Amino acid sequence: MRLDKFLAQSSIGNRKKVRTYIKEGMITVNGDVITEPAIEINESSDVIKYIGKVVDYAGKVYYMFNKPSGYITATKDTDHKTVFDFFDNVNMNGVFHVGRLDKDTEGLLLLTNDGEFEHQLMYPEKHVEKTYFFWALGSLDEKDRKQLEQGIYIGKGEILTKPAKIEVQKCGMYKELKYEMPIDNLENMHSNHYSQPVVSGYLTISEGRKHQVKRMLKAVGCYVVYLKRISIGGLILDESLEKGQYRFLTEVEIQKLMKISKE
Ligand code: URA
Repeated sequence: MRLDKFLAQSSIGNRKKVRTYIKEGMITVNGDVITEPAIEINESSDVIKYIGKVVDYAGKVYYMFNKPSGYITATKDTDHKTVFDFFDNVNMNGVFHVGRLDKDTEGLLLLTNDGEFEHQLMYPEKHVEKTYFFWALGSLDEKDRKQLEQGIYIGKGEILTKPAKIEVQKCGMYKELKYEMPIDNLENMHSNHYSQPVVSGYLTISEGRKHQVKRMLKAVGCYVVYLKRISIGGLILDESLEKGQYRFLTEVEIQKLMKISKE
């Protein structure tokens, strides 16, 4: 591995900073001062020091995060809070989000510094399934469900969506079901929704187009008011994680995801 990459994945600074340290002669490899950032090192056998202190290699990291609504999926943003704000005391150098959730979408988001892992899960040809739980204004009859399952047009110039799975959980009138809807600001819902039908359920897709779930449901007349991703490639959101909490993926979970995406 390149020396600058190794250092950026440890806890001492980002790529730009570590290159400066290298150029300023603050880094030694097996006792020799090295000033060339691109030099190849062996992260398991070479001893790398930064101003005399051994640098521990962070290696690859994989986080499962329960995203709350109201945060954007981005590493940085000047106007909005991002999911990275929850990792304040953690070295997130080189870490990025795997795919995106809308600002108002909750649930399972993976973060890693492993580009291959991201590629395996997000590349459209890999068809990794993602399941979302939704509440929407509207109703879903047999015909709508078939359309969602078989493929539907969701935007001008776009091809048909890939086959999806839909499972309706509850349907009824808003006034009857509103207290079951996990929406914090119910009072913001219009009073004229009162006698409207609402529906909840699970939609599983294997693509990742922008606002895809909302647009698919809209195409059959349903307006999503709550959306939560609950699984990716068989990995289910750990419900012991409160909104805004995260944990490392286990080795078994990482291997399972990599295997699924290769099938
Ligand atoms: N589909 C959406 O519409 N929004 C998301 O955040 C994810 C999938």
